[in-house]
Amino acid sequence: MNVDTMTDTARLTFEDKEVELPVVRGSEGEVGLDISKLRAQTGLVTLDRGFKNTGSTTSGITFLNGEEGILHYRGYSIEDLAENATFMEVAYLLVYGDLPDAERLEWFTKSISKHTLVHENMRRFFDAFPMGAHPMGMLSSMASSLSTFYPDSQNPNRSVEDIDMTIHRLIAKLPTLAAQCYKHNMGHPTCYPANDLSYTENFLYMMFGLPTEDYEIDPVIDDAINKLLILHADHEQNCSTSTVRIVGSSQANLYSSISAGISALWGPLHGGANQAVIEMLEQIKADGGDLQKWIDKAKDKTDSFRLMGFGHRVYKNFDPRARIIKKSADEVLAKLGINDPVLDIAKQLEAVALEDEYFVQRGLYPNVDFYSGIIYRALGIPTEMFTVMFALGRLPGWIAQWKEMTENGEPIGRPRQIYTGHTERPVQPLDQR
Ligand code: MLT
Repeated sequence: MNVDTMTDTARLTFEDKEVELPVVRGSEGEVGLDISKLRAQTGLVTLDRGFKNTGSTTSGITFLNGEEGILHYRGYSIEDLAENATFMEVAYLLVYGDLPDAERLEWFTKSISKHTLVHENMRRFFDAFPMGAHPMGMLSSMASSLSTFYPDSQNPNRSVEDIDMTIHRLIAKLPTLAAQCYKHNMGHPTCYPANDLSYTENFLYMMFGLPTEDYEIDPVIDDAINKLLILHADHEQNCSTSTVRIVGSSQANLYSSISAGISALWGPLHGGANQAVIEMLEQIKADGGDLQKWIDKAKDKTDSFRLMGFGHRVYKNFDPRARIIKKSADEVLAKLGINDPVLDIAKQLEAVALEDEYFVQRGLYPNVDFYSGIIYRALGIPTEMFTVMFALGRLPGWIAQWKEMTENGEPIGRPRQIYTGHTERPVQPLDQR
């Protein structure tokens, strides 16, 4: 195959077939071959398990460069946003395309603060979940259930105002539902939202507020949560975002599309990795804390043990989010004076991973899940709530991607395959099988 830069096409020849494929060039220099007409013109399909080399769409939301460790939301670097914006400003940026001015930010935050309550019938759903139910299982169920309380959201041909209402309801209610998952498993009474608090303050209050005492919000914790949500807000076409897009492409409503994204995020290879990091560290501690033993196990190809929280499918040298969260984690641990043997093991493991040639050569550096697991633990967030925190951060990104797909009128997602099963064969009578 060669790319003719003059006509900006690539020519593919196969057997007696030849086809010209349009070249698509992105605003940051990415180049793709448009194969939309490949099968119609040649009968050929491409095969790319895990879509590692396949773009599913063009998008103006997030740009990342895995080789250079770059992550931008709508052209703003995450370093700049983490330092100079709130999560509400970033949510608005992702969903509506630019940072809000004071008037638009007030419109957005006021609308969201009006919708933080969930219907009391939904609170009763939690009574049916077993104690100890995983919060991600409860959250994905509750997210989809929202569509039954707002049936107008099921109409694919709604006005922009109605879509805005659905978006604001979801951003407002997911933290309330997330906090209720925590209260359910603690056996504690619901702490209803306090709309005079900021988005992140309100979440902390709904999580840790108790009727028996005043809950004082620690600004260090609130700032760390704000940064963590910003850093998780979007990440182009990752597994859960691709799930939201493909479910939404059938014109399923936004609540159900987000519920599917929550389910995809739950997996330990995706958002569940931050929970798996702490479980790994606790396993090492319970085994006596012999870190070298576990590092040797990780290096041993015959051993099934693998270190969780290291390396990344896209980032080859470092995860830019990890750098920011590491700094925040160090600040939180220092300011809160946390003394936790599991976190001590994490710091020792981090030091090895950053120095040991085995890890360095394989790009097994501490990633965003490694540090977010540490900081959530230091903030007193229970381990099973870590991936819920990831979902709260990713929510505006999922919504923005769903909105872009809907506004662009993208077709229903329907990949092809290469069939490798039996060729046609006759049904044998039962006594001859
Ligand atoms: C994410 O932020 O979604 C994760 O890093 C996974 C990914 O991007 O593939």
